[in-house]
Amino acid sequence: MRQLEVAAAVVGDEAPARKQKHTVAGRLLDTRRPWRRVIKAVLTAFVLIVTPTVILFGSRASAPPIWISAANVFRRGGGSALEWPARSYDKLLNGLLADGFDKESCYSRYQSAMYRRNAGRKPSVYLVTKLRRQEALQNRCGPGTVAYSNALEQLKSGKSSGIGSQECKYLVSISYQGVGNRILATASAFMYALLTNRVLLVDPSNEMGELFCEPFPNTTWLLPPEFPLTSYTNFSHDTAQSYSNMLRNKVLKADVDDVPAAQLPVFTYIHLHHDATQDDNLFFCDEDQRLLRNIPWLVMRTDSYIVPGLFLDMGFREKLTRLFPELDTVFHHLGRYLFHPSNHVWGLITRYYDAYLAWAQQRVGIQVRVFGSESNSPALLEQITMCTQKHGLLPELHTGVESIVRAANQKSKAVLVTSLKSWYSEKLKSMYWEHAVATGEAAVSVNQPSHEEFQHYGAKSHDTKAWAEIYLLSLTDTLVTTAWSTFGYVAQGLGGMRPWVLYKPENNSVVPDPPCGQDFSLDPCFHQPPFYDCRLKHWADTGKVVPQVKHCIDRAWGLKLVSTSTQK
Ligand SMILES: *[C@@H]1O[C@H](CO)[C@@H](O)[C@H](O)[C@H]1NC(C)=O
Ligand SMILES: *[C@@H]1O[C@H](CO)[C@@H](O)[C@H](O)[C@H]1NC(C)=O
Ligand SMILES: *[C@@H]1O[C@H](CO)[C@@H](O)[C@H](O)[C@H]1NC(C)=O
Repeated sequence: MRQLEVAAAVVGDEAPARKQKHTVAGRLLDTRRPWRRVIKAVLTAFVLIVTPTVILFGSRASAPPIWISAANVFRRGGGSALEWPARSYDKLLNGLLADGFDKESCYSRYQSAMYRRNAGRKPSVYLVTKLRRQEALQNRCGPGTVAYSNALEQLKSGKSSGIGSQECKYLVSISYQGVGNRILATASAFMYALLTNRVLLVDPSNEMGELFCEPFPNTTWLLPPEFPLTSYTNFSHDTAQSYSNMLRNKVLKADVDDVPAAQLPVFTYIHLHHDATQDDNLFFCDEDQRLLRNIPWLVMRTDSYIVPGLFLDMGFREKLTRLFPELDTVFHHLGRYLFHPSNHVWGLITRYYDAYLAWAQQRVGIQVRVFGSESNSPALLEQITMCTQKHGLLPELHTGVESIVRAANQKSKAVLVTSLKSWYSEKLKSMYWEHAVATGEAAVSVNQPSHEEFQHYGAKSHDTKAWAEIYLLSLTDTLVTTAWSTFGYVAQGLGGMRPWVLYKPENNSVVPDPPCGQDFSLDPCFHQPPFYDCRLKHWADTGKVVPQVKHCIDRAWGLKLVSTSTQK
């Protein structure tokens, strides 16, 4: 408990931590779904057999023979960037992660640092403290506790006064859309929960429990099935209990300060899906947050990264800038805190990494977002090669009479391409096989883990592979992403990289000039932000309201956090 007491002293604006036993939640995890234990045991056995083999002999056993010389190079390179596995790494990421989890239930949690050459940014002491406090809150109020049963009773009763505790308030985040959207939405909900001292529970639909490990020790973040709002996953724009509908129907009045708890509804639905109206977006105003603060249950739907919008709220802005002195690291830290690939996904990631990426001196990730129905685009291929060669990510090709000279300082580059289509990586691969590179100084290997041809929303193996690919991209040294892609946003944030963004062409058969530009920030773009000044109560360009957020490089009306060094 010492840590918690320190936490309470630092974060003075919150109730002091209470001592309590956490066995109820722990038991719940095991008994609620006995089949999970079986799956876990099988997975564990599988990983125990497979992982050591891969880590010890992976590069030699599973890489094609042509790479053996490269593998030997990195084995000899003691102390250099080539050393693999890294000799020293901080498995807790400078205190971002809590210690004491069961290792076998989630190998990725403590192994991921070993796979990252870029150790990432340091979290602030305030953020670390806040995370430990949140873990304690999730333990006190989460599923299986008395507080949680009381809060469910309160929700069933429909009254906000009575048996619910003042201390335990909840945020339920609905999971839908592709895995990239789900990650951004969940991170956003978690940010909001941290700011408002709410317990975060995620809707278990779409395999949230299968793709990711539990992020909080001794408790679950998955909403248990007996939730009384049975149709919550269908909440949408016209749900009567949405915040904007409650305002419109005068069930709630935002301009009255300190509404007595008894007059507040027991829950409201926050609709921040991309079709949110200006009224829905009042969520981003201080006045409305004062009202929402005392409502015990919130259910939120978003498919976006809404964190830049939270900076528009004065109350949040002050806390956020303390939590993240380096502004553009919000997703970088929250993403690495929350999203640990489950053991099955971690197996996909590490086996691929060991075979195709570990040996290379430099690794370049190229994320090509195309839709299954689109035809292969020579213009896009040209955009990719122009971008990567112009900025020195990939070597230029030799022209004229070929001389076969192997430069003494030849570098090995592994290129990881992710795309629904294989055409782009096949073209790049043959380009570097059929032509020598201009200066003879690099050996280039191009690989693509999977190509599904069409996106299958909610299909199990598709989401598993998509998550593995996002994570693999985040393990590269340099990243090229497609404009507007949530997949790319997650990879850049986890990896702590400012990517080269392929600009969206105005005409799909013409390469944009310039073909790409380096992003000014690590953080994802909020695609559909509000355009409203809460103080002046009229339309405003929210990219110009506060210095911390400006418009995105890949989406003129989107919002994103600036990096602290580029902030005026
Ligand atoms: C989780 O349980 C362990 C063992 O009971 C305990 O040491 C640890 O403090 C608990 N963590 C939290 C966040 O309550
Ligand atoms: C959600 O909506 C779908 C389609 O309108 C319907 O079939 C389903 O029963 C609804 N689910 C719940 C829990 O209300
Ligand atoms: C796109 O560019 C091609 C080639 O320059 C041209 O033929 C076509 O008309 C353009 N399309 C549009 C919609 O401008």
